[in-house]
Amino acid sequence: MFKVGILTASDKGSKGLREDLSGKLIKEIMEKNGYEVVRTVIVQDDKEDIKAELLYMADELKVDLILTTGGTGFSKRDITPEATLEVVDRLAMGISYAILNKSLEKTPHAMLSRAVSGIRNETLIINLPGSPKAVEESLDVILSALPHGLEILTGRASECARE
Ligand code: MTE
Repeated sequence: MFKVGILTASDKGSKGLREDLSGKLIKEIMEKNGYEVVRTVIVQDDKEDIKAELLYMADELKVDLILTTGGTGFSKRDITPEATLEVVDRLAMGISYAILNKSLEKTPHAMLSRAVSGIRNETLIINLPGSPKAVEESLDVILSALPHGLEILTGRASECARE
């Protein structure tokens, strides 16, 4: 079972002024798909706060996957992709491109997400946009390929199965 951490980036959510529907939805979807969610956290849209939490989940909790939600857009405080880029060692942009590609079929506003994906040691970090609708649509795109990626990343599979 892969271990997952969920980070919601939201100024309002971190102050208790907005319910974290997206974080809850991610937890529900991931558990339904057989993942173990070991931490869910809401942090303000602050680069250092986001980085600290990503580092804690990757380096201390050693989760296999971190899903972030929120803070990928154009507003002045949106800083999740930049925080992510500062903690990953390698990019995994195919995941973000796949989300973007499918999401554009749903709404042209998908192009307004600046989300990135990358790898820190043996932890995959994927940014998702902030709304529950976007979260659901994005996870729908990546869930089928995630187990194979995580198996390779964590050494549980050594090579791609040949068909
Ligand atoms: N992606 C999908 N699949 N569905 C959506 O409804 N909304 C977009 C985009 N990505 C959307 C989506 C919108 S309206 C914005 S502003 C950006 O994500 C950034 O969202 P964020 O700032 O909440 O991260």
